Amino acid sequence: MKAIASAPAKMILFGEHSVVYGEPAIAGAVNKRAYVEIKKSYNDKSILKSYDLNFEVELDTRNKSYILKKGKPGIIRYILEAFYRVHDHSPIVMTLSSEIPIGSGLGSSAAVTVATLAALYRYHNIRFNKKSLAHDAHMVEQAVQGVASPLDTLVSTYGGLVYLSRNKTFEPFRVNFNAPFVVGYTNKHGNTGKMVKDVRSLKNRNSKVINPVITAMGNLTNYAKQAILKQDYSKIGELMNINHGFLDVLGVNTVELSRMVYAARECGAIGSKITGAGGGGSIIALCPGKSKEVARGIAKEDNVLQVNFTKRGVSSRV
Ligand code: PMV
Repeated sequence: MKAIASAPAKMILFGEHSVVYGEPAIAGAVNKRAYVEIKKSYNDKSILKSYDLNFEVELDTRNKSYILKKGKPGIIRYILEAFYRVHDHSPIVMTLSSEIPIGSGLGSSAAVTVATLAALYRYHNIRFNKKSLAHDAHMVEQAVQGVASPLDTLVSTYGGLVYLSRNKTFEPFRVNFNAPFVVGYTNKHGNTGKMVKDVRSLKNRNSKVINPVITAMGNLTNYAKQAILKQDYSKIGELMNINHGFLDVLGVNTVELSRMVYAARECGAIGSKITGAGGGGSIIALCPGKSKEVARGIAKEDNVLQVNFTKRGVSSRV
């Protein structure tokens, strides 16, 4: 018996931070995935391992803990939380592989959570659908992080590009938005909770200045929605650049992120900005016809990905 599942990374195109204050946001699934495979173990031990993330742990299913055999399993809290919600004590071997850099602001934890739950449900023949899976994955993220927006797990489950409106309804974009993006990620993990808190205190100290910026970011996201519907790349690029300026105003930029954002534009990107919480994490650059130049120009090979939005959400089979 073997179950396999995979789920995509996500990229926030517009609206990070302002979304916390009820403004709209646009985010989508990208064509980099996390994969989870579950097989019966032929000894009495349950093992969780990842070759590309270079860790191995032995699961202690009775005590809901683990024994580290190799490496640093940074993402393991999400897997364990999912695992102990679904799994019985039967010994299994679970293998994780990920094309998504961990902790880079591309939703690696959501993708790993969604793929883990889907693989466990398949393995145990538990019925699920996308709605229940997105809900359960959000619960896992919330249990691990304390607070979590449902956006990452939703996008990772359903795939596609979505618009989150001011009244918190999700609308999938019906257009095929296939533009090539380059992601540049720093080696510093962004701490979303801290960044959200820092923005809140900046806003409280300077409300008359920052409140209009947040509102303007929401208006910008709505312009971007129209530009995406029209496939107007140069307008989308222009709006990304303005959005980056606003994120800088909110204090979530860093020297490294800033350097990549401007290097991308020098190399031919028509728009570039921080994606996600900032303070570390990643930038994205929209660069039709210039992906190679931008990828080469902004960071060393290990810190760059070329991606597209994808309609493909979670996928699983036995
Ligand atoms: O760190 P990420 O990529 O999950 O993005 C966080 C986005 C914020 O708007 C800063 C926070 C949130 O919960 O929406």
